[in-house]
Amino acid sequence: MLRKEAAEIIRFENMGLLFENGPQVFNKLNLSVKEGSFYFLTGPSGAGKSTLLKMIYLNQNQTAGKIELFGRDSLSILHQDIPYIRRKIGVVFQDFRLVSHLSSVDNVALPLKVRGIDPRKARNQAAELLKWVGLEDVLNRNPQTLSGGQQQRIAIARAVIGRPKVLLADEPTGNVDDEIALKLLYLFEEMNKTGTTVIVATHNRALPKEFNHPEIYLNEGKATLIPVGGKKKAE
Ligand SMILES: Nc1ncnc2c1ncn2[C@@H]1O[C@H](COP(=O)(O)OP(=O)(O)OP(=O)(O)O)[C@@H](O)[C@H]1O
Ligand SMILES: [Mg+2]
Repeated sequence: MLRKEAAEIIRFENMGLLFENGPQVFNKLNLSVKEGSFYFLTGPSGAGKSTLLKMIYLNQNQTAGKIELFGRDSLSILHQDIPYIRRKIGVVFQDFRLVSHLSSVDNVALPLKVRGIDPRKARNQAAELLKWVGLEDVLNRNPQTLSGGQQQRIAIARAVIGRPKVLLADEPTGNVDDEIALKLLYLFEEMNKTGTTVIVATHNRALPKEFNHPEIYLNEGKATLIPVGGKKKAE
């Protein structure tokens, strides 16, 4: 049977990033991510994992080369179009970025409300998802009064509730115990099975080995693709 070649959803071409008064984080980095794929994004602390995710979320421009997102040159995207593109992307930042004046359930319901879904329906769905991640007791609490692990799960629920085309998760299991970490990764796998492209940045070197997904390994400004079962050159 002929299978249709998956479309390229993210592309970096000779991409460079030099911060003013800061490091050259990326230098001629090349990367192609096909729709429907699942990657772990790895590399030492400071290698640029969080920065690369921010670039995909149009939160940080490159200083050289090209980035294409959904087939569009990132620099040609008009400022007013950025929110529409971001709606296709679910994101869990390393520092969560929850809305401090909203309750847990309202934080999670936000992406649905923005799309015009009935607020009551949105809250019900958000509450269901929060129950699923074990947060049924804190639905109406302000995230600032919760633990890091609880805030992380709220951020994840908010990222997945709108069934985004792309899910970017920065250290999503950094603050939770092993059991919850596995549950969250299975949630990402379920989303991937229904078509979401997933990129999970992690320090945890064991994670990519437990799940059958390739790695994008960042080091010294470049990205190396490590297939499932493959090894890094340095090892
Ligand atoms: N706004 C900024 N201005 C200057 N330098 C920055 C800025 N943001 C990030 N950097 C630098 O870019 C490099 C990459 O940082 P980044 O946070 O992406 O690394 P990381 O791989 O996510 O690290 P970790 O594993 O510790 O989370 C670091 O040297 C950092 O200091
Ligand atoms: Mg980081």
